[in-house]
Parts: sequence; structure tokens; C-alpha cells
Amino acid sequence: MNLTTRAQRYLRLDLTIEDALPTRMPVYVNSVAYLFGAATMMALAMIVASGLALALGGPTWYHANRVGHFFNSVHFWSVQLFFLAMILHFTTKFFLGAWRDGRWLTWMVGALMLGVGVFTGLTGFLLQSSWDSQWIATQAKDAMNAAGIGAVFNTMDAGQVLTLHVAALPVALLAFLALHIFLIRRDSPVRPYED
Ligand code: HEM
Repeated sequence: MNLTTRAQRYLRLDLTIEDALPTRMPVYVNSVAYLFGAATMMALAMIVASGLALALGGPTWYHANRVGHFFNSVHFWSVQLFFLAMILHFTTKFFLGAWRDGRWLTWMVGALMLGVGVFTGLTGFLLQSSWDSQWIATQAKDAMNAAGIGAVFNTMDAGQVLTLHVAALPVALLAFLALHIFLIRRDSPVRPYED
């Protein structure tokens, strides 16, 4: 069986159209425990949209222009919202035991997104190139060396930090998110524990 036929069979059996674009949800999803994933995703959408504006306008625009300042603030505050929502998300998923019944991969992909998110935040701070950020860069360089990844990730290399922050890490995050959502759609939201 060739790859296309295998993909067809997989999608037909594992991801029906009602799974991909559901019109109805199980009644237990109507709870705050299932809300924070969507909140995290919305914050991420705002981060990406405002980040694109910053990257296109450049630092002379977002440091000097009032509209640029606004987009800079939107970017910063949606990051705060993103991490707050993500912490609430994985805490509620932890108490729901949401890795049950074969959902371990959804959990692991989520954990990876947490890691990628932290590195994206770190590279964002490094990009500011203020005194604070230079201090963080020198300190984080020692941490990366101690962790054994200093040879591939140099926090004091502005070019590498920029590429990681505006391209590599966001693309990785969005790819993991696509997989996260695919798995949830395929497996359906986890049931609450029986009383
Ligand atoms: C970029 C960060 C993240 C985004 C945008 C995100 C998004 C979502 C969304 C939209 C859902 C479905 C709605 C819901 O149940 O809340 C979900 C479910 C889930 N998330 Fe995340 N998530 C993120 C990070 C994480 C992290 C860090 C973990 C855990 C380490 C995690 C574990 C899970 C699990 C296990 C489910 C499945 C729940 C179920 O099957 O009912 N997620 N996520």
C-alpha cells in the first residue's frame, strides 16, 4: 500500500470530518477546565500578529512611534497572558489527569510547547538589547554552557537570537500546536473522573 493510500485510510478512519470540524461537543466540555487551552491559543494568536507588525516595522518604528509603542505593548502583554493561561491550562489538565486513555502524546507535546515557549520568551528579552537584556545574555550564556548547549546556542549572538525568536521557535511552536490540536480532535476531549 503506498503512502497516499495509507494517509487516506488513516484520515478516513482516525479523523472524520466531524472530528476535524466538530459541530457538537460532549456536555462535560462545558466547563472552565476546558477553557484555558483556547485562552492560551488566543493569546498566542495576538503574540504572532503583534510580533509580525514589530518585525515589519523595525525597532526605529516601535521605539519612537506611538502606534509602534502600542504594538510593542500588545506584544509584551499578550506574552504575560499567554504564560498565565498556559499555567492555568496545564494545571487544570494535571488535575483532570488528561493524559488518560492513550492521551500521553497530547500531554508530551504540550510539555514541549512549554519548553519552546520559555526559550521564545528568553530570546525575546535578549532582543531588547537594553542594559537589562545584556545582563540576562551574559548570565544565560553561563547557564547554557553549564547545560551543555553553549556550543549551539549563544545568547550573546544577536543574529542567532533574532532568527530563533522571529522564525525558528515560533514555527516550531505552531507546528507542535497543530499536532496538539490534531491529537485532541482525533481522541476527543478527556472525560472527567467518575465520582
Ligand atoms: C502553547 C501552549 C498551549 C496551547 C496553545 C494549548 C492548547 C490546547 C487546546 C486549545 C486544548 C483543547 C481545549 C482544552 O482542553 O483546554 C488543549 C488540550 C490539552 N492540552 Fe494543551 N495547550 C498548550 C500547552 C499545554 C501544556 C504545557 C500541556 C501539559 C504539559 C498541555 C496539555 C494538554 C492536554 C493533555 C490536553 C488534552 C485534554 C483533553 O484531551 O481533554 N497543553 N490544549
